[in-house]
Amino acid sequence: MRNTAKLATTALTLAALFAGTSMLPGVAGADDASITKGKEVAYDRKKGNCLACHMMGDGASPGDIGPPLVAMQARFPDRAKLRAQIWDPMVNNPGTRMPAFGKYQALSDSEIDAIVDYLYTL
Ligand code: HEC
Repeated sequence: MRNTAKLATTALTLAALFAGTSMLPGVAGADDASITKGKEVAYDRKKGNCLACHMMGDGASPGDIGPPLVAMQARFPDRAKLRAQIWDPMVNNPGTRMPAFGKYQALSDSEIDAIVDYLYTL
């Protein structure tokens, strides 16, 4: 009886571990710390300030100049394409109002990688 209870507890603990975001397919390599950092940088008005133009996650008072950032894995299965959109959106659309965060060094490479990790949770 005791052993059964212990086994059940172990199984529950394992299930909780595997339910962690980092175990989801498609976000391989994205650890929780990176996702948290990406969200911070994206929401920070002095950093990404993505909320000025995009609805994303639970961000307060989002703008609607750009499309809502939803279902990102389904719409951007290619991580490199999503990253390129943030690094320099003018490659896709020379007339875009979205700033080239990477090209103009508004954000560092690691900040952009973290934002992509966060976007893939949306
Ligand atoms: C000044 C407004 C503005 C800001 C700030 C901005 N964007 Fe954008 N973004 C746009 C617009 C407008 C588009 C539509 C595509 C275009 O213009 O070519 C877009 C498109 C995108 C797309 C493609 C979405 C799709 O559904 O095709 C992604 C991803 C994206 N932005 C991410 C971000 C992230 C991440 C940030 C913050 C680091 C950010 N944007 C900041 C205006 C903005």
